[in-house]
Amino acid sequence: MRILTVVGARPNFVKVAPLLGEMSLHPEIDAILVHTGQHYDYEMSKAFFEDLQIPAPHLNLGVGSGTATAQTAEIMLRLERVMEETQPDVVVVVGDVNSTLAAALTAAKMGLPLAHVEAGLRSFDRLMPEEVNRVLTDAISDFLFVTEPSGVENLLREGRPKERVYLVGNVMIDALQRFLPTAKCHPIPPALQAPGKSRIDFTRPYGLVTLHRPSTVDNLATLRLIWTALEEIAKDVPLIFPVHPRTENRMEEGGLYDPLQGASNGISVIPPLSYLQFLKLQSEATLMITDSGGVQEETTALGIPCLTVRENTERPITLSEGTNLLVGLNGRRLVEEARKVLRGEGKKGHAPKLWDGHASTRIVRMLVDQFPGGGAAKRLVMPPLGESVDARGHSSL
Ligand code: UD1
Repeated sequence: MRILTVVGARPNFVKVAPLLGEMSLHPEIDAILVHTGQHYDYEMSKAFFEDLQIPAPHLNLGVGSGTATAQTAEIMLRLERVMEETQPDVVVVVGDVNSTLAAALTAAKMGLPLAHVEAGLRSFDRLMPEEVNRVLTDAISDFLFVTEPSGVENLLREGRPKERVYLVGNVMIDALQRFLPTAKCHPIPPALQAPGKSRIDFTRPYGLVTLHRPSTVDNLATLRLIWTALEEIAKDVPLIFPVHPRTENRMEEGGLYDPLQGASNGISVIPPLSYLQFLKLQSEATLMITDSGGVQEETTALGIPCLTVRENTERPITLSEGTNLLVGLNGRRLVEEARKVLRGEGKKGHAPKLWDGHASTRIVRMLVDQFPGGGAAKRLVMPPLGESVDARGHSSL
């Protein structure tokens, strides 16, 4: 059977790594990987392929930056041709980024069976672009693979048929379990060791920060409020802040940070980290501060207290069973809760059921069972792109 998997942005890469690894164990599967090119910087894309040992994509659509509408439309136009040529038995999309929805829409328009991995999550906040992507992708998917019970409830409430919904666990935690031993031995990023303001004493506690959502960083007043809280926290514990390009642009525009300085008042501002670098720092951090979805799950699996700078989460199991706490866009609360964590009073939790490292095995087995005749699919003669991808991940499709 032929499975076409589409990826585009940083969190996608982590999710497909265990899925593609599992597919490679099935000789009857002809796995094709397409990268939309939504994320194209080395740190945001290729570094992840290297760390996560993902085979080079067969095609890179090279869509790059743009408005969400432009990104979605470009991906659809370019992907339609690929789907026509490859005729997959099933298309697999993961997560909630613009590439996810664009690929899902293209598959649905072409009448191809569609599987969504990480289905059913809902923040109930339609102002988040990811929420719109989730709702729409789930509405047109034939196989809905879910990470936590709330996802099943959401999908059934939205009228999705029960027999299409599979609670399988969390592929992001598959990746974490597989790569944690390697990450632990990974060298510390040079920027944090070189003499200067960014240097961190790793024999002492530190906090790790990620912020990139439009709702957190696009409004300068909000970003300033959070930055001020981080400076306050950094008086008690050094903070490491690998900065997403979107956030860096906003910080520079707002005059919050001078890239030439590298650090400000105990906050080490560094470029985005690779998967292994980030996982190492995350697993050894005393405190995590984030607005990311995936980091809420990873910290729950690692048992690290996580303060989420958002008003809601689409991953409520990280609150009810895990180490996650929502502090809202509230600087004072963020400082108070950070101090509690530093006093050893941070939230305790445990990994949810089925977050056991085997979600991708369940998903691939389910897909193989659904397409018993698919074994006849002829393998495509399609060499991986490999080094022919240029710095922005563009190919000459
Ligand atoms: C996207 C996802 C978000 C995910 C995040 C992880 C959507 C709607 N959002 O957000 O769910 O958590 O990725 O990183 O798909 N840029 C670069 N280099 C890159 C990529 C982006 O400089 O490699 C800059 C560009 O200026 C771009 C901006 O970042 O305009 C935003 O990128 P975009 O892909 O639109 O969304 P993200 O904020 O990365």
